[in-house]
Amino acid sequence: MDIKIPFSIPSVTASEKEYVSLASTTLLSSAWYKEVGRLCEEGHGIMVFLTSSGTYALEIAAMLVGISAGEEVILPSYTFTSTASAFLLRNAELQFCEINPYSSNMNPTSAPSMLIKKTKVIVPVHYAGVHCNMNALAFNYAIVEDAVQAVGSAYNENPAGEVGDMGFFFMLIITLICTMIVLPSVQKRGDLLVQLNQRGIQATFHYIAIHISPLGQALGYKPGDLPITEEYSVRLLRLPLWADMSDELTQIVIENFKHICAEWECHYHIFVNNKNNLLWNDNIIYEYDIFLVSGKWQKIHK
Ligand SMILES: Cc1ncc(COP(=O)(O)O)c(C=O)c1O
Repeated sequence: MDIKIPFSIPSVTASEKEYVSLASTTLLSSAWYKEVGRLCEEGHGIMVFLTSSGTYALEIAAMLVGISAGEEVILPSYTFTSTASAFLLRNAELQFCEINPYSSNMNPTSAPSMLIKKTKVIVPVHYAGVHCNMNALAFNYAIVEDAVQAVGSAYNENPAGEVGDMGFFFMLIITLICTMIVLPSVQKRGDLLVQLNQRGIQATFHYIAIHISPLGQALGYKPGDLPITEEYSVRLLRLPLWADMSDELTQIVIENFKHICAEWECHYHIFVNNKNNLLWNDNIIYEYDIFLVSGKWQKIHK
């Protein structure tokens, strides 16, 4: 069978079609903008601004915290470029911190040791909807939560984006549900990507560690400075997954993945965030839970 399974497909319901067309024909200052803002504020009891992108939200956050030249921002290197560029634009100094290899999020124990007088802001990135230990970041610094992948997630029952001083989301389809698999080596990731793609399954990789990009190196970082981040960014793989993916396609992805990796002595981590928001039926969620854990094919939930 000639299959083609794209990385993500937006699931558009009848009312979404109507609302999206309404939103696209109105201006930001319109009733539409106000209504969406009002609903978000009502639901969360916080002040909400709608922006045209996550990057713009970050740039506004950098302005709101009042960061100025020479002040420092602590952030993970395993993130999208604008988590860093928003602060760099205001001539802030970037302190990239290490990530936790099990969650791919900021390792909070590495942050305190980095705090210095010039530190103004900490930016945890809730990769795949998972928070780091936010309590460990509770210092006297502004916390800006990059929660683009955490719509619907919570930390100790506090919704993502509301734990720090400010936070932001976006509604991009590829981040509303996330899977990630940490493969045993960069070679194995390459093999798996090629084999899945040959079978019509569009798996992808994700961020490239910023500290070893040309920009990071121009800032004085070098390969080896953040070994966990470097290792992780070349071993992570993402599988196709979307809200109303059919059982049949889900099975094809899972079975192919299992088949290719069957012989590998390796550990997998798959995080499916925002389960509460999923339109999936229980069976599919259950299938994913089978290999949600690190290690062999285990079940962690019934
Ligand atoms: C972690 C993270 N923060 C910020 C952004 C920026 O969002 P946008 O592409 O809407 O500007 C992205 C985009 O992928 C992201 O992954």
